[in-house]
Amino acid sequence: MKVAVPRETRTGERRVALVPKDVAALCKKGAEVAVEAGAGESALCEDSSYAGSGASVSTRRQALADADLVLTVNGISVEEAPNLNTSATVVGFLGPMDNPSQMQALAVEGLSLLAVELIPRITRAQAMDTLSSMAMIAGYKAVILAAQHAPSLFPLMMTAAGTLTPARVFVIGAGVAGLQAIATARRLGALVEGYDIRPEVKEQVESLGASFVELDIGMERVTGTGGYAAEQSKEYYRRQQEALGEHLSRVDVIITTAAVPGRRAPMLLPTEITDRLRPGTVVVDLAAERGGNCSLTVPGEVVVTNGVTVDGPVNLPSSVPAHASQMYSKNMLNLVSLLLKDGGFQLDTEDEIVRGALVAHGGRIVHPAVKDAIAKRAAPA
Ligand code: NAI
Repeated sequence: MKVAVPRETRTGERRVALVPKDVAALCKKGAEVAVEAGAGESALCEDSSYAGSGASVSTRRQALADADLVLTVNGISVEEAPNLNTSATVVGFLGPMDNPSQMQALAVEGLSLLAVELIPRITRAQAMDTLSSMAMIAGYKAVILAAQHAPSLFPLMMTAAGTLTPARVFVIGAGVAGLQAIATARRLGALVEGYDIRPEVKEQVESLGASFVELDIGMERVTGTGGYAAEQSKEYYRRQQEALGEHLSRVDVIITTAAVPGRRAPMLLPTEITDRLRPGTVVVDLAAERGGNCSLTVPGEVVVTNGVTVDGPVNLPSSVPAHASQMYSKNMLNLVSLLLKDGGFQLDTEDEIVRGALVAHGGRIVHPAVKDAIAKRAAPA
């Protein structure tokens, strides 16, 4: 099996899909690995380390030319598809639901596409769960950004110059990123509250030393499947915003991570709420790339409005390229191990993990949700 690791081309991307340590592990399994020169530079993975681990370091064209498997963080462009072997499989965060037409164009070129964001969140797939790996990094980094923007320190300090009270941090959405944000803010000494629309996360929030906030919404919520939240009615969100507002006007830092798979992120901090935040409050909106949980969010920017700082970071995992690449690479190694059968590379569509993540195969789109997305876009408005 020939594996290619190209340099990422997305603007600002600093991660690499495979680190030298895992190249060595793949070579042991019988793979030949070709890395584009400079692919790991921003993640502190030198070409010499790749070569020392058994990879060949070459130009992009050479690395891609005869690869069976192309491991990426963000996929490849349609323009580049003709440079690949038509039977190649491309793996990465391909954004199939955001870019269904790009998926179709790549499928037409004959490429098989494995979108890591579609890997089912089942126990057997935990070691390949790139969404969780990257969300953990984002949750941690969100708190570091908040601490940097905040006009006050996070921990309680009793000093000869007086007592500094600890920061009050409110985390909305206690999924993977939110729980990591809670843990990080606690480690920095803040008083932390966590809230989620799914009450079942209460115990996890409390086990990290935060208190769980229960809001009285006064109506039933729609429950989601697979551990995820579902989209709610406009009225539910209106009541939720109202109930949240009470809590948020007395905190120092708000980290928002609320998301609903396949939907725009729910708006939880409209201007009626941000207007009530105290000057000096810091909001870090981890949902910025999916439309934002806060109305003041501008993706990729820090805006200050009436003394309230709102940071809407994009691609936060890339800002921690060494560890983000290390985790992503381990996820890749585990995924490739699943694809190696009887000494060769095989896309076993009977396997729930492969089937769940496989977007295109045999020259066509095979994933039902992506097919639906393409049909919807093609339908007249
Ligand atoms: P996510 O990124 O889709 O959402 C983040 C959080 O936002 C979720 O906890 C969700 O409940 C919350 N949320 C959505 N709408 C909200 C609203 N209106 N108000 C407040 N909170 C709202 O989810 P993520 O972090 O990717 O995973 C969520 C869950 O998936 C985990 O808690 C877990 O149950 C499950 N999971 C299971 C795994 C496994 O078994 N292998 C691995 C990873 C996650």
